[in-house]
Amino acid sequence: MFHRIFENNKRWIAEKTTGDPDYFKKLAAGQQPEYLYIGCSDSRVTAEDLMGLQPGEVFIHRNIANLVVSTDSNINAVVQYAVEYLKVKHIIICGHYECGGVKAALNPSDMGQLNSWLQTLRDVYRFHQHDLDAIKDSRERFDKLVELNVREQCINLVKIDHVQRSWYKTGFPKVHGWIFDVRTGRINDLNMNMEEEFASIRKIYDLKPIS
Ligand code: CO
Repeated sequence: MFHRIFENNKRWIAEKTTGDPDYFKKLAAGQQPEYLYIGCSDSRVTAEDLMGLQPGEVFIHRNIANLVVSTDSNINAVVQYAVEYLKVKHIIICGHYECGGVKAALNPSDMGQLNSWLQTLRDVYRFHQHDLDAIKDSRERFDKLVELNVREQCINLVKIDHVQRSWYKTGFPKVHGWIFDVRTGRINDLNMNMEEEFASIRKIYDLKPIS
């Protein structure tokens, strides 16, 4: 089983270098990805694969339920590096239906170490409890929380100082909220208008430096 991976790797190298013997030489020269993708760690949601992108085309961060937590130094470093150094043009937050993290947030129980991580999701539930509880069908309610979570994480992303500074300087990165539907393979764009979203929270979260 494990051996299979190394065999796959050899085959992959052969595929990449057929027709382009310098493939890895070019890859080693550096990266200039246009996108930062923030998605779930779920093994079914394979970032490059589902987007049809190649090595070098997308900078990636994955965690359980694609959360942007302000005290998470990992995601803060990823966002800062992507925005300030790689100068990515787009940041995508991609959630997915049937997300185990989101499901756990809907079914309260003690999950040990996971509790603090899941609290962010439970907070999303709390923010939208009225609307969510009005949905009778449990599958529909689950799907809705997946979507609301992506929306909230996009908002969390634009609260980050590096994102705002870059906006003021260049107008980029654009922030996009997506849902990957594991039932069909399709990516759905939530078509969020982040300028509008930010305008509505600007009074509270604007970090524009005093000039
Ligand atoms: Co998930």
